[in-house]
Amino acid sequence: MAARRKMAAVLTRTFVVGCRNKSSAVSASVMSELEGGELTEWDRARPYSELPGPRPLPLLGNNWRFIPYIGDYRIQEVDKVCRRLHAQYGRVVKLASLLGRPDMVFLFDADDIERVFRTEELMPHRPSMPSLNYYKHVLRKDFFGDNPGLIAVHGESWCKFRTKVQQPMLQPRTAKLYVRQVEQTAKDFVQRARALKDENQEMPDDFINEIHKWSLESIARVALDQKLGCLDSDTSDPHGDTQSLIDAVTTFFKLVGILELKIPFWRLFNTPTWNKYIASLDTITSIVSRHIEVALTRLRSTGDPQEITDQSSLLQRILALDPDPRTACVLALDMFLVGIDTTSTAVASILYQLSLHPDKQQLLYEEIRSVLPLVDTSITTQHLEKLVYLKACIRETLRMFPVVIGNGRCMMRDTVIAGYQIPAGTQVVFQHYVISNMDRYFPEPERFLPERWLKSGSCLEHASTKIHPFASLPFGYGRRMCVGRRFAELEIQTVITKKTIPKRCVTEFV
Ligand code: HEM
Repeated sequence: MAARRKMAAVLTRTFVVGCRNKSSAVSASVMSELEGGELTEWDRARPYSELPGPRPLPLLGNNWRFIPYIGDYRIQEVDKVCRRLHAQYGRVVKLASLLGRPDMVFLFDADDIERVFRTEELMPHRPSMPSLNYYKHVLRKDFFGDNPGLIAVHGESWCKFRTKVQQPMLQPRTAKLYVRQVEQTAKDFVQRARALKDENQEMPDDFINEIHKWSLESIARVALDQKLGCLDSDTSDPHGDTQSLIDAVTTFFKLVGILELKIPFWRLFNTPTWNKYIASLDTITSIVSRHIEVALTRLRSTGDPQEITDQSSLLQRILALDPDPRTACVLALDMFLVGIDTTSTAVASILYQLSLHPDKQQLLYEEIRSVLPLVDTSITTQHLEKLVYLKACIRETLRMFPVVIGNGRCMMRDTVIAGYQIPAGTQVVFQHYVISNMDRYFPEPERFLPERWLKSGSCLEHASTKIHPFASLPFGYGRRMCVGRRFAELEIQTVITKKTIPKRCVTEFV
């Protein structure tokens, strides 16, 4: 196995060195001159080598900058690193000569991002998580086979899988079918949070873990129609399953960034970080598989899995489209992998922002009470549609603190961006966090102003006139946009509503 990984490393390095930086530029311009043709956009663009960015050192490249005590880029503060790079070098920045991986070009301009997305290929390549790609395609090929899902998967296999799951996941109607389950989970969470308060009305220090339990429970209800019970007052967890799953997902997210940004020694041998990372993935795979097995058995024993009704779980809908249970199983695994931490981080940020801004809380409370005057009214999608201020609060929080601070694409063909030649094979990173906190796109960006997302004509101060459509993209864009977006929005809107209804105050949450 180590030998195979060594080989993969060598191949990757060849790819970096072999990037057609100058050669493709030269050949394109020589060709058009020889043919006496017009100069193309590519010919007129500045060469890749002139892109501004930190200078690599001989042999060490730029990776040394992430080494503690030696370099001054901290992986835990990658947001600050990106802001600094923008301040130092401007609209487009190249981080070149990273050992074991292609160059990265950071984009800090919404027009440039728009251009990349508008010319997106049929099978866009999001280059993140090569370590997860290795896990799915090599280490656990026995489990994933040729059906590896969406996360860290590219090309034909990604396209085949996405085509199968796109409609049941993203169709607005589908998410609406789960309002009841999502609302029940939100109710359980609010009840549990109330019970957890101490004599000073304070929440426990690890309250984020309680929010993780809520998002885990929500995904299990939507994906498998299964109640895991981690929000029940009797917290018995017979297999210790749910907490182990939450811990494994948290570890996965903590380590994946380290494996991606530091020198990838894991490609050569099993480092301690790599071992912990693989252990967390194995834990997630095994616990989720067990729950899926239980859900499948129940489904088979209670009727025809092919018969779809409004009450059918997502698992059942996917099985009706593709009877091979592995598709449903791998989708559920991807959902548990990336749907817990993301949604709970978003909810924690929204509650925090609301607690810091009682005036905004009051407006939210008034809106919710006008749409849902009776505390016990069951939430419907019609109610949610009317909660425009709630949605503005969510958008504004995700603008200031996007859960995914930078997203990217691997360029599949030579492209001109910001006046520079960007050769095929380069990884372009959209700097969402930096951009959505720039005053050129959002005046007074440090202020929490949900009003900027309301349509002009609203009587509220700061109502937006026009926001650049690519200046805040919390769920990504295009063919690879977040496939769980509808569920995430439903879960977040419901839980914030449930929290706000009884008391108009969420301050006690932080
Ligand atoms: C607030 C919560 C969430 C945020 C901010 C978020 C954000 C994102 C972003 C930025 C991407 C990359 C999109 C792109 O490359 O254009 C993504 C992809 C993805 N997300 Fe989410 N996500 C959230 C919740 C969820 C949930 C709840 C699920 C599952 C139920 C989920 C499943 C996925 C999957 C499977 C992909 C990969 C899609 C593909 O490559 O085809 N996400 N998400």
